[in-house]
Amino acid sequence: MRAHPAGPLHADGLMAHEAASRPESVAAMNVLAPGVWPSSARRNADGAIEIGGIDVRDAVAEFGSPLFLFDEDDLRTRARRYREAYVGVGARLVYYAAKAFLTTSVARIVTDEGLGIDVASGGELAVALRAGVPGERILMHGNNKSLAEIEAAVEARVGRIVVDSFEDIVRIADAAVRAGVVQPVLVRVTVGVEAHTHEFIATAHEDQKFGLSVTSGAADEAVRRVAKLPSLDFRGLHSHIGSQIFDASGFEVAAARVVSVAQRIWDEQGIEVEELNLGGGMGIAYLETDDPLDVIDMASQIGDIVGKQCANEGIPMPALAFEPGRAIVGPAAVTLYEVGTVKPVELDRGVVRTYVSVDGGMSDNIRTALYDAEYTVVLASRESSAEPMLCRVVGKHCESGDIVVRDAWLPGDLVPGDLLAVAATGAYCRSMASNYNYLPRPAVVAARDGATTVFLRRETLDDLLRLDPGA
Ligand code: LLP
Repeated sequence: MRAHPAGPLHADGLMAHEAASRPESVAAMNVLAPGVWPSSARRNADGAIEIGGIDVRDAVAEFGSPLFLFDEDDLRTRARRYREAYVGVGARLVYYAAKAFLTTSVARIVTDEGLGIDVASGGELAVALRAGVPGERILMHGNNKSLAEIEAAVEARVGRIVVDSFEDIVRIADAAVRAGVVQPVLVRVTVGVEAHTHEFIATAHEDQKFGLSVTSGAADEAVRRVAKLPSLDFRGLHSHIGSQIFDASGFEVAAARVVSVAQRIWDEQGIEVEELNLGGGMGIAYLETDDPLDVIDMASQIGDIVGKQCANEGIPMPALAFEPGRAIVGPAAVTLYEVGTVKPVELDRGVVRTYVSVDGGMSDNIRTALYDAEYTVVLASRESSAEPMLCRVVGKHCESGDIVVRDAWLPGDLVPGDLLAVAATGAYCRSMASNYNYLPRPAVVAARDGATTVFLRRETLDDLLRLDPGA
């Protein structure tokens, strides 16, 4: 028997990236890296993590595990900072991209802080409306909006519908005629830029489903058709180049292309592009080593870029709009899991990897399996002074790809019943959750000044059985 199931690790037997990520000291494993964790996250006198003044052990005792725990002040501060930064460089409105995570509480919080809401389906629209968000602060997206979704948006008098196809133009125009309104629209253009983190690819064409191509002339033709329809009010162009972007270089190429389309539309059609919506995509830190540009720097760089491009093309600077999603909610929440099993597995070269199974997995966080996403995980219910062990945090689903954190160093004295916290799970985790293996989806709770608000309650087995008429 080893002194500890994980055993001492032989650094020379580890993969380079695993060895590199080994914590510098035992104490380092207890530290909550700033920028990765919600701003109020700290360890209390017991060594347990507290968020918004709530001890994670109490939160799990009350709301069950797994649990998404938001720092409500962090969420509010992010919403406010994004609004201020982008309004400061000429944004008419900053829309929160609801796909990242939406409940009526989230909709109320972000609109309280002055944001609008970008919805991408009739369901997201219904939540925003139920929260009391005024129609004019809502923007609707979708590459295949149904007639019912378009009608609901037009009836709610949403401020913008983003045209994504020629079919959209006719459908939105008809719905507006039926409702007796003139619907403001943007035309979404594809500029051949795909951006992610520090890298971006710029091509002459865009092989993807969104928007209308600027090189084939489809974008110009869409504007021409929109302008002819009296029930549509052409306001401008939309371009979204990707997600989890760390610097402004991708935006620079995209802005150059989109501004030259604006100039051409003015030149050839005499139509002014009053508004330019540059989408979302602002990146966040999942790991301590991630270094996204600060919100103010990103906003001012993008503002300067668009200003310069407009000056080059000799057109007036349009009003801007943005749609951040991840950057508003992502870092504001963590996922708490309870450890169920701790299983050392001997790899080659005498290296042991300990599989730590938690009570959720790919049903509450599909991002690791889907995108090879990386996360920071720590022991949350206590501090430890045990040596680090190389772990893989896995879920309870019936497939081996059910991984939450691929390579993690956790204290060697980890035992069933311990709570783990995974950072920066506020975006695209609960919103992409499933009921795989009939797991009830976790509750989402916000903490602020020692009090909690339920954003979403935990699902019950009755919730799951309700859809089955034979049950
Ligand atoms: N606007 C448009 C038109 C979008 O398509 C998106 C995201 C956003 C805004 C918001 O982007 P954000 O600021 O959140 O990066 N499920 C993936 C992300 C998909 C993003 C899709 N569109 C993930 O978990 O990484």
